Amino acid sequence: MTIACEYRPGLEGVPATQSSISYVDGQNGILEYRGINIEELAKHSSFIETAYLLIWGVLPTSDELAEFKHEIQFHRRLKYRIRDMMKCFPESGHPMDALQACAAALGLFYSRRALDDPAYIRAAVVRLLAKIPTMVAAFQLMRKGNDPIQPRDDLDYSANFLYMLTEQEPDPIAARIFDACLILHAEHTINASTFSAMVTASTLTDPYAVIASAVGTLAGPLHGGASEEVILMLEEIGSVENVVPYVERCIERKSKIMGFGHRVYKVKDPRATILQQMAQELFDKSGHAEQDQYYDIAVALEKAVAERLAHKGIYPNVDFYSGLVYRKLGIPTDLYTPVFAIARVAGWLAHWKEQLEENRIFRPTQIFTGTHNVPYVAIDKRRSSQDIQLYADLVAP
Ligand code: CMC
Repeated sequence: MTIACEYRPGLEGVPATQSSISYVDGQNGILEYRGINIEELAKHSSFIETAYLLIWGVLPTSDELAEFKHEIQFHRRLKYRIRDMMKCFPESGHPMDALQACAAALGLFYSRRALDDPAYIRAAVVRLLAKIPTMVAAFQLMRKGNDPIQPRDDLDYSANFLYMLTEQEPDPIAARIFDACLILHAEHTINASTFSAMVTASTLTDPYAVIASAVGTLAGPLHGGASEEVILMLEEIGSVENVVPYVERCIERKSKIMGFGHRVYKVKDPRATILQQMAQELFDKSGHAEQDQYYDIAVALEKAVAERLAHKGIYPNVDFYSGLVYRKLGIPTDLYTPVFAIARVAGWLAHWKEQLEENRIFRPTQIFTGTHNVPYVAIDKRRSSQDIQLYADLVAP
């Protein structure tokens, strides 16, 4: 087979699809959803309205939005069998693994598959947007030995999630900030988890398998898992004085500084700028206590990294300040990535729907680097696998 283009590790710069959902200008730090700037959406929209925009391509009218919200509200509860299944999960397990298992389990309960039926698409969208936050909150309560609490119909999407998580009605400002965080994380072109969702979708499997595979991909520390790693890193740094030596050490050891760098952005991620403002607002409100120097350490770290790595285009990405905001909102560290998933479900579903509209199964090619005509060696004749490799190298043409 002839190779159409050169091999690029990580498919850097290789277009994998055509999409009208979102747009990133990595040189100028611009992100748009369906043409609308992210700053505008974070300021004026709500997460549910943004999800509608991403999935259906237009802003909803007030009637359309009210109906969409009502449908989501109606589907927030979990079947008792899903709750029973969750009770069997080990409390030491990572919440992302629990979420992946729960998302896949939905496919067992809603097994009808009618991908060419708009009503089926709508029902799956609603069900996933509605139930994923309930699953995250339920696992949090169950692993502490408590029963999950039921969603409250008088609370909107974000306030209800914080309520189910903490068992307390959240402060309206906290709920608004959390909702804006969801908007900022809802979509970001063809990142690893979205690509994973699209590959799965292209096989025409059910939407629950699509979301489960995307959740698994988001969990890694090079992707959504970075926000959790950022807080662990700030803890390890411990004080503003330790920032510069920490950066020097990372550069010397060639280790990545979490929350920095991006395949597409070569300037500061616009979402990081908005999240930094939110983090600053929250830290200013509660005071920069001696034992809570995270924001000051983060600002010093951004400065130190800029001094040493700006020439490589290494600046804060979305995960750098999001953990600080979640921390101030009282969200446990290992729930930062599940919270990212709650938001990104909107983008994954938008790409699922777009993929189905003009589907062709993903089946890229490869460049074979192995050997040919290697003889099969009977088991009693084999030595160590190292010897076999040496032998294979000898017979290679
Ligand atoms: N700290 C120090 N150096 C870095 C960093 C970093 N965080 N990121 C990239 N570099 C350097 C890297 O060492 C390499 O230098 P050189 O050319 O001298 O070898 C150069 O920049 C290019 O790096 P790369 O790893 O080839 O870039 P990539 O596009 O393959 O990876 C990335 C992008 C986001 C995986 C990477 O920047 C990284 O690992 N960052 C830390 C983890 C992180 O914050 N992830 C969240 C990503 S944004 C949100 C999301 O996707 O969920």
